[in-house]
Amino acid sequence: MKIKNIHVHLTEEQIEARIKELGEEISAAYGDEPVCLICILKGSVFFTCELAKRITSPVAIEFMSVSSYGAEMSSSGVVRILHDLDASIEGRNVLLIEDIIDSGRTLSYLLENLKTRNPKSIKLCTLLDKPDRRVVDVPVDYVGFVIPDEFVVGYGLDYDQYYRNLPYIGFVEIEE
Ligand code: IMP
Ligand code: MG
Repeated sequence: MKIKNIHVHLTEEQIEARIKELGEEISAAYGDEPVCLICILKGSVFFTCELAKRITSPVAIEFMSVSSYGAEMSSSGVVRILHDLDASIEGRNVLLIEDIIDSGRTLSYLLENLKTRNPKSIKLCTLLDKPDRRVVDVPVDYVGFVIPDEFVVGYGLDYDQYYRNLPYIGFVEIEE
């Protein structure tokens, strides 16, 4: 499959304005309490960095890597931890940061896994939500944008590892 065109859906300005709002909401929720952001590699890197800058509560950043779709555009349903956290989250406030929730399988698996490590609290934040594709229900606390059932790239999201660096989010048009 080849990409024919990428149609801008959310501009860099729109994305960053929304992230600023999310940062304010999150700061109001945690106040002076420290929060540990868990960035799910690789897609959430751009979002996590931008969001972290907009949170005024004390912030720590940790990284975790889980298996993704590869060159496919649909979920295999199998979630694997490729790189685990290198810090303990026991007794800490955790905010899991995702780029997009599609079927919900990745977050649902991660949430259950992280809960067994006894954090003080655990919440979910996603830049994009595609509710039409949900297979597993997940309780999302913060959502940047709800988008239709279209494959998107940019601002961290990839197609076969490329296009993550686009400063905007766009719908992919595939060559027939
Ligand atoms: P889920 O487990 O089906 O919710 O899939 C979530 C993961 O699939 C995300 O973290 C992305 O890595 C990937 N994904 C889902 N939809 C898209 C998309 O439209 N563009 C790029 N990656 C996507
Ligand atoms: Mg991802």
